[in-house]
Amino acid sequence: MAYPIHQLKRLRKNANIRRMLRETSFSVDNLVMPFFVKEQASSKKTIDALPGQFQHSLKTLLSEVKQAYILGIPAVLLFGIPARKDLQGSGAYTEEGIIQQATAAIKKKFPDLIVITDVCLCEFTSTGHCGIIKDNLSSKRLNQVYLDNEATLTLLAKAALSYAKAGADMVAPSAMADGQVSLIRKILDENGFNHVSIMSYSAKYASSFYGPFRQAAESAPKFGDRRTYQLDVANTRQAMQEIAYDIEEGADIVMVKPALAYLDIIWQARTKFNVPIAAYNVSGEYAMVKSAGQLGWLNSLETTKEILTSIKRAGADIIITYHALEIAKYLRGK
Ligand code: PBG
Repeated sequence: MAYPIHQLKRLRKNANIRRMLRETSFSVDNLVMPFFVKEQASSKKTIDALPGQFQHSLKTLLSEVKQAYILGIPAVLLFGIPARKDLQGSGAYTEEGIIQQATAAIKKKFPDLIVITDVCLCEFTSTGHCGIIKDNLSSKRLNQVYLDNEATLTLLAKAALSYAKAGADMVAPSAMADGQVSLIRKILDENGFNHVSIMSYSAKYASSFYGPFRQAAESAPKFGDRRTYQLDVANTRQAMQEIAYDIEEGADIVMVKPALAYLDIIWQARTKFNVPIAAYNVSGEYAMVKSAGQLGWLNSLETTKEILTSIKRAGADIIITYHALEIAKYLRGK
């Protein structure tokens, strides 16, 4: 055989050399744990499509957040399910709303834990849509759902301000309303919350991977779908535009969501932009691993480590994942 013969196997010969040469790693430091909290719930309730995750009561939320805190998870992301939904999604921005209550309760007990609140109306509207719907002729004729951007923006900003007042460290607008970052930044600043940061769900695709989340948050659209406002799954350039606009509007952190089927988008964003990038390892990605694991078709812990490593390798700084608690336990040897 001709020389030289390249043999990278020499560098894989045992755990120590592999460890020494490992290019990518993730730690608890990079993880954000999402939680669902339900208004007026008296105990926690399992979620069929998200094994190991719960719709929490305020009380059970606090005990689970405590676990995350003790394990060193730096941040939690809150989703609320209101007792009643209405057309205007008022549960999102009423001062005694469930997110506001949960935020205040967490910050009281764990002042230095980063509390991030999702800013969207879909859990709160009776339509299940992320904003106020334009109920006009063209939408009916085309059988499409159009958001009333102005009306939606006003309510999103109101929600963000109420979360900041409750003590949120960071707000995460996820409705895909145009201009949402800019208006939220303005309202926060005008009210003395210039220290509250914005993590924008910038490149949020109209994905089937959100299915289990919609069961967990009781937020499935009652009619139509979200394709008129979320990104088309086939598009890269529009994702880069969304991210660029959000940075211009004042986003401190931008997000790509989902993560696993969109590693190329994370990578491109990493090469193009210098702000921190968050990746959302969404409910469907979690559910696939968990269900195959339960069937014995794969090792769910090993698969999870591989997935989180790949998301880091693609360029994400932060990973929002339902696996955060279990992975933190594993990394801490618990
Ligand atoms: C919107 C929102 C959604 C998710 C996070 N924020 C759902 C949607 O757009 O339908 C999905 C997250 C997941 O699937 O884990 N409030």
